[in-house]
Amino acid sequence: MPISMKDFVERHPNLKIIIYAGKGGLGKTTCSAATAYWFSKNKKKALCFSTDPQASLSDIFERDIFGKGETKLAENLYVVEIDADKRVAEFHEEVRNKIKEMYKIDKLPDEIDRYISSTAYEPAMHESATYDAMADLLASKKYDIYIFDMPPFGHGVRMISMATILDAWIDKMTEARKKAAEYLEAEVRIRGSSTKVEDEILKELSSIREKLDFFRDALTNPETTGFFMVLIPEKMAILDTERAIKMFEKLGISLSGVIVNQVYPFELLEIPNLSEFLKHRIEMQKMYLKEIKEKFGEYVRAIIPMFDREPKGMEMIAKVADHLFENPSLNLLEMV
Ligand SMILES: Nc1ncnc2c1ncn2[C@@H]1O[C@H](COP(=O)(O)OP(=O)(O)OP(=O)(O)O)[C@@H](O)[C@H]1O
Ligand SMILES: [Mg+2]
Repeated sequence: MPISMKDFVERHPNLKIIIYAGKGGLGKTTCSAATAYWFSKNKKKALCFSTDPQASLSDIFERDIFGKGETKLAENLYVVEIDADKRVAEFHEEVRNKIKEMYKIDKLPDEIDRYISSTAYEPAMHESATYDAMADLLASKKYDIYIFDMPPFGHGVRMISMATILDAWIDKMTEARKKAAEYLEAEVRIRGSSTKVEDEILKELSSIREKLDFFRDALTNPETTGFFMVLIPEKMAILDTERAIKMFEKLGISLSGVIVNQVYPFELLEIPNLSEFLKHRIEMQKMYLKEIKEKFGEYVRAIIPMFDREPKGMEMIAKVADHLFENPSLNLLEMV
């Protein structure tokens, strides 16, 4: 039998980060919330982090936390839902101020100002901002465990593909610097301080790079980071998971496990006069669970049942946590 989620945690005493990835709507946020809950109950200070503009953590914890910073929900249980738009705006303000400071001017030329604002619409900018927020939280070392609830698109792959994002960010900074330099060169020349300005900017860039390198190192270290894929027993989810695992491997991230979610309890099959509809659904799930066992066998860490309602609110989160860590139902794999 594969090792359970709880065994995995016990075998990784240096675990700092847990990431749930996978196709949209299969249970990443649900598992993230339950994981943060479980750690908090086991006396670990846990932070659950999301950047979902749909405020999904707010939804599952039934508290409005979007853009409100780190919020304590219970003993050892903290959540934060980053408002990436706000973060990008703050970043722009910082760039504006830095340029003003460096060139000792009160107001940016309109063209530079417009240029800086225009970068807000680039998707890489959003990801960089998110990434930066994650790196900041991790560097703060305030928590024992960080749970990153990834956005659905592209499995959050782009969030993790540091190299590209890092480069995009640095490029943007460099470009902004160049534009500014073009406009302000004359002024700087008069003051004769161009080398000093250059040094300041390079210092800034290298500090950003250091921060992101630190984060990438943490993410690609299997001792500190647990990387889990959430799927359901259906064809598309299985295919998608296979593809994603390959993609992640290319990024230097190895799979820590898969969580099979939304599995209909097999005992239903024993109910006399069970509707044909349900019977078929369960048989289908059994068939795909078998495929999951064949394809990801040793990686299955928990099998979570389909609940009769959406798992929301602390009581339901506690229930999911129980299935995820304490009663992972791995014996179901023997029954398919
Ligand atoms: N085991 C389950 N039983 C019943 N409902 C579930 C279960 N797991 C998740 N759900 C419900 O399915 C929906 C999707 O779950 P969740 O939000 O956790 O997925 P997600 O992967 O985070 O989605 P997204 O990709 O949109 O962020 C939610 O409404 C959630 O309450
Ligand atoms: Mg989600």
